[in-house]
Amino acid sequence: MEIIIQPNPGVATSLAARLLGKTIREKPEAVLGLATGGTMEALYRELVAAKLDWSGVTTFNLDEYVGLPPDHPQSYHHFMRENLFRHVNVPPGRINIPDGQAANIPGECEAYEGKLFAVGGIDVQLLGIGTDGHIGFNEQTSSLASRTRIKTLTPQTRKDNARFFGSEAQVPHHVITMGIGTILESRHCVMLAFGAGKAKAIALAVEGPITSMNPASALQLHPKVTVFMDEAAAANLTLKDYYRWVYDQKPDWQKI
Ligand code: PGA
Repeated sequence: MEIIIQPNPGVATSLAARLLGKTIREKPEAVLGLATGGTMEALYRELVAAKLDWSGVTTFNLDEYVGLPPDHPQSYHHFMRENLFRHVNVPPGRINIPDGQAANIPGECEAYEGKLFAVGGIDVQLLGIGTDGHIGFNEQTSSLASRTRIKTLTPQTRKDNARFFGSEAQVPHHVITMGIGTILESRHCVMLAFGAGKAKAIALAVEGPITSMNPASALQLHPKVTVFMDEAAAANLTLKDYYRWVYDQKPDWQKI
């Protein structure tokens, strides 16, 4: 796992945007796994400003709330449209987000996995991390082999996301999320974590045991993971000086 600690979220976000931009330039037909949440807003702003050509890119989002229509202001369809898709030239037919209103949810989840398989999998998967260590909406005790499916949100996640909905009561209880097994099949996982609220989850994900009690720790099993974080999110890492040293020693060809 490559740990990149930067002085503040802005610098870390710019580096992550550069990595994504490089992916799209080098592979115009790239398949990107996209994430939502507060952490991603600045990243998408930078990607929009970079004026990249998205005409060959295919996207798959990690998750969606069950029951919210695509035009609901808190749906992830809406989030993606407002923060990214309406500003770039990605063809609508290449955008994939789970349908939270599907009448047959297991069927929708299976079809989503089928679409991912058909395009040959994800080149770069963006990830945020929940304060409880979730990735996508794979809450604690999610199977580390899980596939796209329905999940019930924990009270902690509903509390964390209440800030977007106005009140906790309005946060849906259920979501469709790619599984941890699905995420681990991406060729490169790129996680972003900012702020003191993420410090505990990050320390457990990077340096803790691999356990479904911290779903992000499953990334330790993946051969190519890059984690961008600020000093606050890095605060509890035992080896943070080592990670900084490794980053400073990187040969030029490995630099982002
Ligand atoms: P956040 O969410 O970016 O809003 O902190 C991250 C997550 O829950 O995955």
